[in-house]
Amino acid sequence: MKNKNIDYIIEGLIDRQVSGKKSKMPARLDFFQSLSGLVLALFMWVHMALVSSILISEEFMYKVTKLLEGSWLIDGGHPAFVSVAVAMIFSIFVAHAFLAIRKFPNSYRQYRNFKAHMLMYSHDETKLWFVQAITGFALFFLGSVHLYIMLTNPGDIGPYASSYRVVEQWMWPLYLGLLIAVELHGTIGLYKLVVKWGWFDNKTAKQTRARLKKIKWAITLFFLILGILSLLAYVKIGLQHHDGRYMPTQETT
Ligand code: HEM
Repeated sequence: MKNKNIDYIIEGLIDRQVSGKKSKMPARLDFFQSLSGLVLALFMWVHMALVSSILISEEFMYKVTKLLEGSWLIDGGHPAFVSVAVAMIFSIFVAHAFLAIRKFPNSYRQYRNFKAHMLMYSHDETKLWFVQAITGFALFFLGSVHLYIMLTNPGDIGPYASSYRVVEQWMWPLYLGLLIAVELHGTIGLYKLVVKWGWFDNKTAKQTRARLKKIKWAITLFFLILGILSLLAYVKIGLQHHDGRYMPTQETT
C-alpha cells in the first residue's frame, strides 16, 4: 500500500514535468547573460581607451579624469560621478557572474569528464569554452578587488594617484593578471555571441568561424599590447615618485 502511494506521487510529479508548460526561464537567463556580457565587453574597450590616455601625456590623462568626474557639468567635477559609474558596472559584473555560474562544472567528476572529452576530441570551440571558464573564475576575484577599490577611492584616480596605486600599493601584479584574464575572456565572449546570433555570417559556417577567430585574436592582441604599454607607463611614473614625500592625491594641473 505504502509503495503504491509512492509510485502514485512519483507518476504525478513526472506528469507535471512532462505535460506542464515549458519554462522560458533558461532562455531568459541565457539572454541576460549574453546582454550583460556584451555591455561589459564594450565597456572594456572604452575603459582601455581611457586608461591608455596616460600614453599621450600625464596632462591628457588628468583632463580625461576630470571629464569623468563631471567637470563638463559642475565646476571642477566631483568623484561621486565616478562612484556612480563604478556602482553600475559592478552591479552588471556581479549579475553576469551570477548568471555564468550555472554553466560551471559543479563537481570534480563533471570537471574530469569535461577535461577527458576536451582531450579526446581536439575541438577549438571546446577549448575556448574551457579558457573562458578559467578566466571567468579568475575575474570573480581580480575584478572584484579592482572594482571595490575604484568604488571606495573615486578621488584617487589620475596620472600620479593611479601610478602610486600601481607601484606603491602593489596593484601591478593584479592588473597584469586582470588584463590577461579580461582580454581573453571578453573577446572569446564576443566571438561566441557573434557566432550564436549569426551577425557576420557569410560563405560557409567553417569559413565564417575561421575569419572571426582571426579578428578575435587581433583584437585580443591589440588590447593586451595597449594594456601592457599603459601599465608600463604607470609603473614608470610611479617609480619616479618613489620617495616618501610623494602624496598619492597630488595631481598635475
Ligand atoms: C567603472 C568601472 C571602472 C573604473 C572607474 C576603472 C578605472 C580604472 C583606472 C583608473 C585604472 C588605472 C589604474 C588605477 O588607477 O588603479 C584601471 C586599470 C585597469 N582596469 Fe579598470 N576600471 C573599471 C572597471 C574595470 C573592469 C570591470 C575591469 C575588468 C574586469 C577593469 C580592468 C582593468 C585593468 C586590467 C586595468 C589595468 C590596465 C593596464 O594594463 O594599464 N576595470 N581601471
